[in-house]
Amino acid sequence: MTDLFAPLQTLLDARHSCRAFRSDPVPEDVIERIVMAAGRAPSWCNAQPWRVTVTRGAETDRFRAALLDAVAHDAPQPDLPWPESYPGAHGARRRECGLQLYEAVGIARSDRTARAEQSMQNYHLFGAPHVAIIHSEAALGPYGAMDTGGFVTAFMLAATALGVASIAQASVAAHAPMIRRHFGLSDARLILCAISFGLPDPDHPANRFRTHRAGLSEIYDPRG
Ligand SMILES: Cc1cc2nc3c(=O)[nH]c(=O)nc-3n(C[C@H](O)[C@H](O)[C@H](O)COP(=O)(O)O)c2cc1C
Repeated sequence: MTDLFAPLQTLLDARHSCRAFRSDPVPEDVIERIVMAAGRAPSWCNAQPWRVTVTRGAETDRFRAALLDAVAHDAPQPDLPWPESYPGAHGARRRECGLQLYEAVGIARSDRTARAEQSMQNYHLFGAPHVAIIHSEAALGPYGAMDTGGFVTAFMLAATALGVASIAQASVAAHAPMIRRHFGLSDARLILCAISFGLPDPDHPANRFRTHRAGLSEIYDPRG
């Protein structure tokens, strides 16, 4: 084993979704380092189908306002179809992480109004000073999207390594037509997800829980 594994494991363990940010901006050179590190992700034929549109300052606020307006008036129209169902263990894990969040912020299971309000935090970008819109070349289809998923993970790991907290958000990408209009992106770009990022609010209860992971036997299917 090389000496790279221990720092990698530390980084993987340290990353988690942040759902409350401080308003302080991330320095531009730090954002550029995160983007360049994420660009090291592998892709089929090295096509590198990703591109990332990143807001700062008043532009983040303009986008937040446009997003909230779209949520109030438009039906969701994601470029990637949302899951039809979460069978078996997938559904159980989905329920568990939702319950962990509601428990952390003190929302009762039965309180639908409070749950909806917490969910609306997605469209306030959890107070983040920056949002990264992750898009891929539509012509590259699902494999282009898959490659860009690797970019998303590398982006969030690089951010963690530089002390920047983040959260991937499919909820934001549900307003793909508005996002393309807002940023002047062509129809040839698939809007895959957003990543809100910034410095974490360490005292906020939404940031106090950590999700679990399946054990080896649930992931690994050795043969022979
Ligand atoms: C592609 C993608 C989309 C996600 N969309 C959302 C979202 O819209 N809202 C949200 O609160 N969390 C979202 N998440 C965060 C997941 O809920 C989170 O990664 C998962 O529960 C594991 O927790 P962790 O990131 O803290 O390890 C998303 C994560 C990914 C990878």
